[in-house]
Amino acid sequence: MTARRDVMVIFGITGDLARVKTFQSLYRMERRELLECPIVGVAFEDWTKDRLVERARESISAEEDHLDERVFRRLVDRISYVHGDFGTPNTYDRLREAMGGAEHPLFYLEVPPNLFATVVKGVAGAGLAGNARFVIEKPFGHDLDSANALADELHSVVDESQLLRVDHYLGKVGLEEIPFLRFANTLLGPAWNRDHIDHVQISMTEAFGVSDRGHFYDPVGALRDVVVNHLMQVVVAVAMEAPEPGDRSSIGRRRTELLRDVVPADPARYVRGQFRGYHDVDGVAADSTTETYAALELRIDNPRWRGVPFFIRTGKRLHVTQTEVRVVFREAPSLGFGLRGEHPPSNELVVRLTPTFGVRVELTAQRVDAADPELAELDVGFAAPPGEAPTPYEVLFEAALAGGGVRFASQGTVDAEWRIIQPLLDSPPEVHEYEPATWGPDQADALLADRGGWRSPWLG
Ligand code: BG6
Repeated sequence: MTARRDVMVIFGITGDLARVKTFQSLYRMERRELLECPIVGVAFEDWTKDRLVERARESISAEEDHLDERVFRRLVDRISYVHGDFGTPNTYDRLREAMGGAEHPLFYLEVPPNLFATVVKGVAGAGLAGNARFVIEKPFGHDLDSANALADELHSVVDESQLLRVDHYLGKVGLEEIPFLRFANTLLGPAWNRDHIDHVQISMTEAFGVSDRGHFYDPVGALRDVVVNHLMQVVVAVAMEAPEPGDRSSIGRRRTELLRDVVPADPARYVRGQFRGYHDVDGVAADSTTETYAALELRIDNPRWRGVPFFIRTGKRLHVTQTEVRVVFREAPSLGFGLRGEHPPSNELVVRLTPTFGVRVELTAQRVDAADPELAELDVGFAAPPGEAPTPYEVLFEAALAGGGVRFASQGTVDAEWRIIQPLLDSPPEVHEYEPATWGPDQADALLADRGGWRSPWLG
């Protein structure tokens, strides 16, 4: 049994991630009375506690219509601040003092990946790493080799079991519900395989661009930004085998096993796009060929999925902001009655993850009083009232404070994800320009030409 964390230490608390996500998530957790331990912020800036409190207030007010002063006070009363250089042992001596004898610390590294090892070594050098857990954020390398080099460096100081790698999709309401839906419903379970499923479409379209993130985005691109991590986790949720009964920890093993069955992607089945106007974004190179759109096909070589393509597409400046999974079942045989056409349309099951969670099943039904059968849509809306569902970061912080578990990615999954994507990085096809507010480059339609094309999203 992993111990609950008795202090949360945030390296880089003065930075951007803390400003746009961390303070807001901590505030919402404080409001739900989920925080129990002190929080220590560490950063290079010589800030006073008051300045940090001001930053927290600004950050939370940007998100919350009404800031509850009592909740805010409770939160900032937990926070202390240590300033210092991450490479200097003295910083960690002061940190030890601020931690006040805590024995099960959670260290959250909101620092660039090239500082991960420095911080972990600093913590270990001060004798604070023994029972610690370290939360780290993507990117975990920029290709297979650099991801493995990063892992080796971290493993030289701490054990894999101490590392909690954030993929915020693992905290997204809806993702864990996909395997639940599959395995809890005998209506679906027996049909969830190559005998009944024609193909799977996973679409993560975003109407917004990269605005002030050009410097980050341009060396990265869509494939590294969201496919190798978030969308792989969606594939896993759709395709993994059932966890062992009563053993939640087996979910992590099942994820890795599935990813190891995914065939390295084929560059001939990969389409790259870039929205018109991308070069004008601050921080983007004038001759950049970075993709802001990626569409690809994956194959899974195991008995359940052999022969079933998984199509993935994602892009910035597209028509709408929406993430959904669409499982397209095989066509029914032609009927001897009812339908005038040859075949009823295929059944489709849609799980929407963004902007709200919902499930839709499309069936063909014949009304007594109608000439032709029609498509019936059965919708299950689980959306919590706006602002009430926990955000991915709240879910992940809660899991991390409880000691870790299956909400985090392992090195096994990270390694397998890069292995799948690496051929696309080695032989990238040309990039096609697309108009903003469209569905991306036309070339992506060819991937699904013989399967009825990309479906229009089920708008929430
Ligand atoms: C982030 C990417 O990891 O995920 C962003 O860096 C992307 O580019 C975001 O927009 C999408 O997350 P969500 O939860 O809004 O679908």
